[in-house]
Amino acid sequence: MPSYNPNDVSYAVSLCGLSDAEAKELLEQVNKTDENVSLDSLFKYADFMVKNEPPRIDSCKIPAGRLWYIEPFCGSTTYVIETEDRLVLVDSGFPCYAEQLLATLRSIFPDYDERKKDLILTHMDMDHAGLLSGFENIWMSKTSYDDFLGRAEGKPNLRERNPKRTPVYRISSLLSRDISADTANMRALNTFEPETDKPLSYIGTLNIGPLSFAVYETSGGHIGGSIILYEKENRIVFTGDTLVNPSDMADSQKEFIQMGTAMLGTMNDDSVKAKAERAEMFALLDAGGWILCPGHGFPMRYEV
Ligand SMILES: [Fe+2]
Repeated sequence: MPSYNPNDVSYAVSLCGLSDAEAKELLEQVNKTDENVSLDSLFKYADFMVKNEPPRIDSCKIPAGRLWYIEPFCGSTTYVIETEDRLVLVDSGFPCYAEQLLATLRSIFPDYDERKKDLILTHMDMDHAGLLSGFENIWMSKTSYDDFLGRAEGKPNLRERNPKRTPVYRISSLLSRDISADTANMRALNTFEPETDKPLSYIGTLNIGPLSFAVYETSGGHIGGSIILYEKENRIVFTGDTLVNPSDMADSQKEFIQMGTAMLGTMNDDSVKAKAERAEMFALLDAGGWILCPGHGFPMRYEV
C-alpha cells in the first residue's frame, strides 16, 4: 500500500479546488489504494476533470421532433429529445462539467431556461448525474432514487459498498466535485423491487408529453438500479452503460475509459450479468430500424 503525504497530492488538490477537509480525505483514500492507482494516474484523472474542451454535438430528426447528442471530453453522452412543448434529457455528464453542459444547452436552445424540462438518469454513476438542477422531474429507478436519498443522509453510495473499490470511487467523487444532490425533484419510476433473477425486469412505462418509454431495470451488471428505456414510437433505445459505442467516440473518451478500467479492473459490478443484459436488450427489439443511444459515444443505427 502506498504511503503518501499531503505534498504528494497537492497538484490534484489545487487543480480541482478541494477544501482542506476534502484534501484530507483524498490523501486518506489515496493511501488505501492498491498498486493500480499511482500518483500519475491520479493526476491524469484530475487533468481530465478540469478540461474545458468543447463537446462533440450532433442531432437527427425523429417523429417527435429532434434527438440531440452531446459528448463531452469525458463523461456520459447527454441526449436531448426536443419536442414541441418540452425537452427531455437522458443523463447529464460529470458534475465538474455541469456548467459547460448548461452553456451548451443554452447555445442550442436559446430559450432553454424557460422550457419545460425533464431529466432521466439511466443510473447513479457520477459521470451520468452531473447536471441535476432546473428540471421539473428527475426520473430514475427506485434503486437509484433510494441511493440518492441515502447519500443525502451521508450513507455510502452503491459504488462505495465494495471495500476494495471504495477508495477509487471516493477519489473520483472528490475530483469530479460529486456532492450530495438535492433530491426534491427526483422521482422513482417504480415502487416495487425489480426481479433481479433475470437480465432485464420491466418496471413500468414513463409517459412524458408525446413520449412513452418502456423501462426495464437491469440485474446490476454495470451497477444496481441501471435502466434501459425503449421509446417505440420514435424507435429509440437509451441503454445507459449496458452498451457503449467505441466505434463512434472521441479519443479522449476512449482514453478516459481505459484509465478507469486500469484503475478498477472493470467498470462493471458483474461483467457476466452485464453481458446477459446486453443480449436481452437486443432480444427485446422488434423488427425494423432502431436508434441505439449508448451511455458513452454517439448513437448507432441498428436494423433487426
Ligand atoms: Fe458511464
